[in-house]
Amino acid sequence: MACGKTADEDHPAIRRASEVLAAGGLVAFPTETVYGLGGDATCAAAVDAIYAAKGRPADNPLIVHLAGAERLTDLVTVPPVALRLAERFWPGPLTLVLPARKGLPGSLTRGLNTLAVRVPDHPVALALLRRSGLPVAAPSANRSGRPSPTTAEHVLQDLDGRLKLILDGGPCREGIESTVLDLSRDRPTLLRPGAIRREQLQEALGRTVRVPGVSEHSSPASPGTRYRHYTPQARVVLVDRDVSDTSIHGMIEHLTQLGSWAYLSVRRSTLVPPGVRVVHRQSASELTRCLFADLREFDRHGVKLILVDAVDDEEPVMDRLRRASSDRLSQEDFINLRLPEIVQRLRS
Ligand code: TXA
Ligand code: MG
Repeated sequence: MACGKTADEDHPAIRRASEVLAAGGLVAFPTETVYGLGGDATCAAAVDAIYAAKGRPADNPLIVHLAGAERLTDLVTVPPVALRLAERFWPGPLTLVLPARKGLPGSLTRGLNTLAVRVPDHPVALALLRRSGLPVAAPSANRSGRPSPTTAEHVLQDLDGRLKLILDGGPCREGIESTVLDLSRDRPTLLRPGAIRREQLQEALGRTVRVPGVSEHSSPASPGTRYRHYTPQARVVLVDRDVSDTSIHGMIEHLTQLGSWAYLSVRRSTLVPPGVRVVHRQSASELTRCLFADLREFDRHGVKLILVDAVDDEEPVMDRLRRASSDRLSQEDFINLRLPEIVQRLRS
């Protein structure tokens, strides 16, 4: 249902969506990051239905969305640092992992002793949360492993027939999912980079935020990072920032033999021959906002290989790109390999 960008609690679409949630049904709704697939977090059947609709691994827990920080203590223990971050960044793209209150349903905690919570910064999401009065469990509204949805149309592509209602509030502002910060351990730990940056968190906390090493990602503490993510049907290859335009031109000429491929570029100077599917993004932030939509659009055209220009490694979008990609080309590769060898590598 169309609900505009600023629906209030009395909007007919919001009323209908609240009824669906209250009856244990699933509703997709826009947030400032990506669209979420929401269900009543206190209803085991609704939570189970979310896992079934997404095809989500059973051990990967969900984020609970709230209208404000007031009801946090129903669900989690709230240390003072969490309150400080909540005051500073909520509503906003920050998820906090906190110690779960005893007695929460196992369908929600998935065997962990923590729970992830956030207050989204989107009028439609907030209207729905206020109207329903429920804590709403909501993962991104995509089939598991696919790029997250940033429009209602993307939700429909993945979940048509698997949910009751989609609230269409237009494209999402941020384009990638929230920052996930674990406050349940000795030291604050960044489980997923997002629009709220590590430096902002450190500044607000007055202490360093850890970034887990690769090996820790397989631990139960950050279940979501274990799975393959954000994958379009095509093979995604990152092109390092140090790769020269000359090397790129050479590669593109050799790639023309290679059927359906595309180039997602942030380079201004790259001249691409006609016939190549190229999408130019002006900046890291435009790349971030449009990435998931671009990946889906390439899929729609049956693209088999996507080259993507890397941006600064500190940009949160690079986390998504590293996980979506299966190879990364650097200038050194162009020095060590002949172009046909590079093309061969891109093919395999
Ligand atoms: O921006 C967002 O966060 C979006 C919108 C809809 O709010 N939601 C979202 O949910 O991205 P999802 O389920 O796609 O990603 C949640 C991430 C997963 O990586 C999951 O493993 C992690 O948060 N997570 C959830 N609960 C956790 C917990 N108790 N401990 C550690 N990680 C947790
Ligand atoms: Mg997701």
